[in-house]
Amino acid sequence: MTSTTAVTAGAGWDPTTLQSRYDEVRSYTETLAAPLSPEDQTVQSMADVSPTKWHRAHVTWFFETFVLADNEASFAPFQDKYWFLFNSYYEAVGPRYSRADRGLISRPGAHDVGVYRSNVDDRMHDLIARLDDGALTKLASTIELGFHHEQQHQELLLMDIKHVLSRNPLQPVYAGRPTAESTPDRLGWVEVDGGLVEVGHEGSRDGGFCFDNELPRHEQWLRPFRIADRLITNGEWWEFMADGGYRRHEHWLSDGWAKVTTEGWEAPFYWTEVDGVWFEHTLHGTWPVNPGLPVSHVSFYEAEAYASWAGKRLPTEAEWEHAARGATASTTDVPTGNLANTTSFHPEAAPPASGGLRQMFGDCWEWTSSAYHPYPGFHPPAGAIGEYNGKFMSNQMVLKGGCALTPAGHTRASYRNFFPHQSRWALSGVRLADDGAAA
Ligand SMILES: [Fe+2]
Repeated sequence: MTSTTAVTAGAGWDPTTLQSRYDEVRSYTETLAAPLSPEDQTVQSMADVSPTKWHRAHVTWFFETFVLADNEASFAPFQDKYWFLFNSYYEAVGPRYSRADRGLISRPGAHDVGVYRSNVDDRMHDLIARLDDGALTKLASTIELGFHHEQQHQELLLMDIKHVLSRNPLQPVYAGRPTAESTPDRLGWVEVDGGLVEVGHEGSRDGGFCFDNELPRHEQWLRPFRIADRLITNGEWWEFMADGGYRRHEHWLSDGWAKVTTEGWEAPFYWTEVDGVWFEHTLHGTWPVNPGLPVSHVSFYEAEAYASWAGKRLPTEAEWEHAARGATASTTDVPTGNLANTTSFHPEAAPPASGGLRQMFGDCWEWTSSAYHPYPGFHPPAGAIGEYNGKFMSNQMVLKGGCALTPAGHTRASYRNFFPHQSRWALSGVRLADDGAAA
């Protein structure tokens, strides 16, 4: 699951803009939680899912632990045991409550988590207002990391509540309405030259901030390749299913086939068949599967099997990033697309073909064929913050691009998300690639 690491930035902040950005990020978390009752916010429907109120408290704990603790004149924690309850995975901070048991915690309730948030917000306001230039320079990068950390949890909050609500036979609606039924248009291909390319965070062109796992920027050699101009759709996934895709071992990696057989996979995670009709659970309720929308909530194993069935492959992360940069050639690349600010909270049909790449940012995180490993020369930062990314560089695959639940401004070409191969509850989809030129 996503975790981040902190790195650069910190420059360019003054107390007023830092405070303003702090308020903006913090209030968006509360906006996302607002449609949810205290009972909604308490449920943990599986181990990968955290309760909404836990997300709201944990991101607050992050500021209290990594900013206030070392910089408040007479620091005292808001509550003695919150460091234990709301530490996620930081060994250097100390022991923590079992992740799989977060749903057993009825207190603090959703209201009291709000009181905790307000207390830390007040203390952060006081601290930022008192920062002189030297302290601002020293602390701004950690505070900015806290912004991006909270944005990651905003996305997780939505992914997690989607699963929580999926378990309720009443099929509750979080927000929004389904889009009109559509059919896929023709899948196009974009040819991309190979050669020596650079990948990794590109400073101000990528918006200034990055996590440590996006560095160092470095060179990679790419052979010429082609990449699909949009995501694979539900309609195309149906064809895979109808052709026995989930029953044909020859298309599956061994570990993936083991999952198919032991878990009984026969369709994407949120699909259910009722009287011969496939329905999909979404944040706006349960509706018949819309053929023109991107297929979503498929694991790496399923994405890889689909690519095999289609006679193609998944892009490497370097191919994806290089292609994305070519698609958005400007001095500053601020990705736009179907991100959380559209409030669709679900993948949408691709815009009309224009000869270029579509849906590169937003809609679905896109599986790549690249394992999540450190870039050459990567060294995690010292201290607890060094646990943010580096220690997860094992047994996970890289995903690119962002999804319909990603906060606007929280993705870029160099962003490296990562999930284990079998993960399906994340909003993940499929883009194909192929070698060489010519279709
Ligand atoms: Fe976290």
